[in-house]
Order: sequence, then structure tokens, then C-alpha cells
Amino acid sequence: MRDVDAQPVGGIARRLTGILKSRGIDPDAPVADDAEPSPALEAAQARIPARYQDAVADHPAVDAWVSEVAAAGRRGPDGSPGIAQGRSLLIVGTTGTGKTHQAYGAVRSLLSAGVRLRWKAITAADLYAELRPRQGCDGERELQDLARCPLLIIDDLGAAKASEWTEEITMRLIDRRYTQMLPTLVTTNLGMSDLRAHIGDRVASRLTEMTDKVILDGPDRRRALAAERRRLTAV
Ligand SMILES: Nc1ncnc2c1ncn2[C@@H]1O[C@H](COP(=O)(O)OP(=O)(O)OP(=O)(O)O)[C@@H](O)[C@H]1O
Ligand SMILES: [Mg+2]
Repeated sequence: MRDVDAQPVGGIARRLTGILKSRGIDPDAPVADDAEPSPALEAAQARIPARYQDAVADHPAVDAWVSEVAAAGRRGPDGSPGIAQGRSLLIVGTTGTGKTHQAYGAVRSLLSAGVRLRWKAITAADLYAELRPRQGCDGERELQDLARCPLLIIDDLGAAKASEWTEEITMRLIDRRYTQMLPTLVTTNLGMSDLRAHIGDRVASRLTEMTDKVILDGPDRRRALAAERRRLTAV
């Protein structure tokens, strides 16, 4: 994967750390790992796919984003912060580098930190399948629900077959979230130039402004886990 627009992860982490410090927030304070089990997290676990139920956002830039979003939340009547406007993340990496893991880990961290949070997660392929015009399905309403949801995971953007229609749907969804500045976690296997070719320049332009880019490199963790399992069973 080649990505000329890529920023080094250390740079993002340093920038976010600076932002947090300027707001009087300790960037090293644990958000998720040491938190008490939260009722909101326990309730949300039912909606988190089995594979990612224990996911921890252990990437420094994702962890810093969680802290920033948690800190920006407006206090509700019970004193707990609710999610507000904020920046989004574009989590980029080749197959199996842990993009979906980081995205669900981020949601779990926010819930553990006591952030009041309405969230949804959808893969781009499921988004297009669910919105495809058909009898008895109000695709327009579904699109608006996703567009307005305070936190949205759009997983695997650019992985589904593209058409004018998918480009339009993606544009309407991203434009709404861009305009309202709603935090969105987007994962993709594509670098920005391939993504631009796949989803269109107008979507790519908005994503470039609204997201901090997190690049996951390293090997395919699935194959590494399988090799480790084989090694353990061989001894
Ligand atoms: N930080 C991590 N710590 C432990 N396990 C991880 C971590 N990141 C990913 N994994 C595990 O590695 C595997 C692949 O992760 P994941 O599904 O998130 O990859 P992906 O980048 O989304 O892949 P794809 O591009 O195919 O969608 C999963 O079994 C996941 O639980
Ligand atoms: Mg994935």
C-alpha cells in the first residue's frame, strides 16, 4: 500500500498529546484499561461482534483520540460527559493489521470512561446492501439515522464494488457528518489516492480535512496468530 498523504503515527500522537496537555488533560491517564466495569459498556457488549468484545485501543494515536473525544464531551444532567462534535479518525492499513480491532477498542474505551454514547457500526458493503432501494425498506430514513448518529464506525470503506450510486450514498453520509462535525471512525485498506479513485474526490477531500490518519503497519495479525498456534501445538 502506497500512501503519499500519510502522516507518521508518532506525529499525530505528538500533536494530540500537545492538544490534550494544552487543555490540562494528562495524556498518560488511563482511559480504558484500569476503568471500573461500566454499565454502558456491559450493555454495549451485546452489539459488539464476538471477535472484538475484548478489543483494546492500544494504538497511541487512537488512545489519544479517545482521550480528546472524552474530554470534549458536554456534561449531561447526571454529570457524565456526552459525545460532542470532534475530529474523526481514518484508520488505514493492509489486511489483518488490526483496523477493526482499534475501532471497536475506541468505542469500548469511551464507554469504559463513562462517556454517554449512542453509536453505530457498519461496513461499507453492508451500508450499500441495506440502503439499496427495495420494497418495504426506508433507505432514506436509515441513511439519516447513520448520518446523525453521534459516533459512527464505517468499516472497510473502499472494499465494496463502486458505482455512481455507492459514490452518492457515501458522499451524502460523509458530507452530513463532515458538516455537523460528528466523530466518525473510518477504516480502509486503501491509501488516499486509491480511496479517492474508489469513492470520489469530494468524499476524499472531506475525509482529508475531518480525519486524523492512523496508519497500521506490520504483518497480517491473523496469519501471525495462526503461525503462533501452529508453533505451540507442534511442541
Ligand atoms: N492490538 C491488537 N491486539 C491483539 N489482537 C489484535 C490487535 N489488533 C488486531 N488483533 C487481532 O488480529 C486479527 C485481525 O484484526 P482486525 O480484524 O481488526 O484486522 P483488520 O485490519 O480490520 O483486517 P481487514 O483489513 O481484513 O478488515 C483479529 O483476530 C484481531 O482480534
Ligand atoms: Mg477489518
